[in-house]
Amino acid sequence: MRKNIIAGNWKMNKDLSEAVKLVSDLKSELDGKTLNAVVIVAPPFVALEAVKSLIKDSPIKLAAQNMHNEDSGAFTGEVSASMLKSVGCEFVILGHSERRTIFNETDEFINCKVKQALANDLLPILCCGESLEERETSKTMEVVEKQIKAGLKDLTNEQIEKTIIAYEPIWAIGTGKTASPEQAQEVHAFIRKLLIEISNESVAENVTIQYGGSVKPDNSKELLSKPDIDGALVGGACLKADSFRDIILSV
Ligand code: PGA
Repeated sequence: MRKNIIAGNWKMNKDLSEAVKLVSDLKSELDGKTLNAVVIVAPPFVALEAVKSLIKDSPIKLAAQNMHNEDSGAFTGEVSASMLKSVGCEFVILGHSERRTIFNETDEFINCKVKQALANDLLPILCCGESLEERETSKTMEVVEKQIKAGLKDLTNEQIEKTIIAYEPIWAIGTGKTASPEQAQEVHAFIRKLLIEISNESVAENVTIQYGGSVKPDNSKELLSKPDIDGALVGGACLKADSFRDIILSV
């Protein structure tokens, strides 16, 4: 059975003391609550270790926002999968649209990272999603298909089953414009069908497919009630403990 997963992508926000405060507040907001979802936070690299020590006796899990695909070496400014493991990460966000568009990451490069994450026992959150122009020219499914097929290339069924997919239409990220629950469900169902094609029905049934793009406490319940929407990747609304709590509790 696939799990609902709510992940907070902090992006390039919060210095060390702010990160400590946010995760401490989140921990108290969730204390004693029944959670129907796995909760993940993805702080900036420099706060990972501090956040890990604060969440160790809580249900909150740790993700990084990116990594390199090589083990080690002359890659100035980069961080490896084993480094992330060593500070307690269990997940890593890969192929976010901001990485693809601002840092020119290609599907091939992202695929190498997905394989490297899995080889190091880190669970990838593989992001995909179309631009506004691609949606308006009816290319959404084509774009998503290409990103998913390339991102999961050469993975075994067992590895695909461990991978989390995040559908994040670029036009909905940080814009306040959310895909309607129907629009999101349509793409999620398409991704699940694609997973059957790439692997098989039971693998496809077990893969968590998150929605991301302006998820807020006032729209999360409706989005998350859709049959193929298995959680959310949250940006802006995860930067305040109470709004992230409300999204988590809406599952
Ligand atoms: P947003 O970001 O919730 O601020 O739209 C989502 C994301 O980029 O993961």
